[in-house]
Amino acid sequence: MNKTSDPAVLTALRQATAPLHERLDRLVDLDRSTSDHQAYRRLLSAMLSGIAPVEASLRGFDWVGAGLDAEVATWRAPLLRRDLEVLGEAPIQAPPDAPSPAPYPSRSAAFGALYVIEGAALGGQVIFRQARERLGITAEQGGAFHAAHGRPPVGESWRRFRNALETHCLDTEAAVQAAVRTFLDLEARLAPLLSPMSAAERA
Ligand code: HEM
Repeated sequence: MNKTSDPAVLTALRQATAPLHERLDRLVDLDRSTSDHQAYRRLLSAMLSGIAPVEASLRGFDWVGAGLDAEVATWRAPLLRRDLEVLGEAPIQAPPDAPSPAPYPSRSAAFGALYVIEGAALGGQVIFRQARERLGITAEQGGAFHAAHGRPPVGESWRRFRNALETHCLDTEAAVQAAVRTFLDLEARLAPLLSPMSAAERA
């Protein structure tokens, strides 16, 4: 990825959220999450409980008017549900006290949140490769979400998102605040399902 041509708002988003990404990375613990099928299914359930509310909050925005495709904020939860179904598992529900996200107050804020879930697809490629190698997961057999199955290639989607961000996200501060909040909401929703303590309790 050519970082030198990145718009300033993207650089600001990346800088503000890098430590939070690092924390999520540790929470997901790719090696543990791909150690066996049960751990992988738990990862999918956790992702669903984290990402579905973000997608729901982003539904009302006019993404097509911003040059993005109509499904840009809605494709993940259906693929996660399908993966879990294919793997024969009902999603593990997040505890009822998980915070529900407040609506994003502006289009710039919505862009900040979309940055988080669009960016996650970059890491999804790494997760997909490892799940395929270690567990035999394929795009049809449990890996549709991480492979962004049926979506344009991830690099192309990311370039398109970056262009839309540059043109339509005019309030960097609002975008950064929303991205930080979205990372924190995700962490709060993923942690009960993924933290080593809860995994041990479940075993
Ligand atoms: C819910 C979990 C996750 C979220 C929300 C998330 C979010 C993001 C975001 C927003 C970006 C874009 C960064 C930027 O270039 O501005 C990104 C990139 C990336 N993430 Fe994640 N991520 C998650 C989990 C993971 C995990 C578990 C891994 C480890 C495999 C990972 C690996 C990566 C990689 C390799 C990139 C691409 C970095 C680059 O090419 O510059 N992510 N992720």
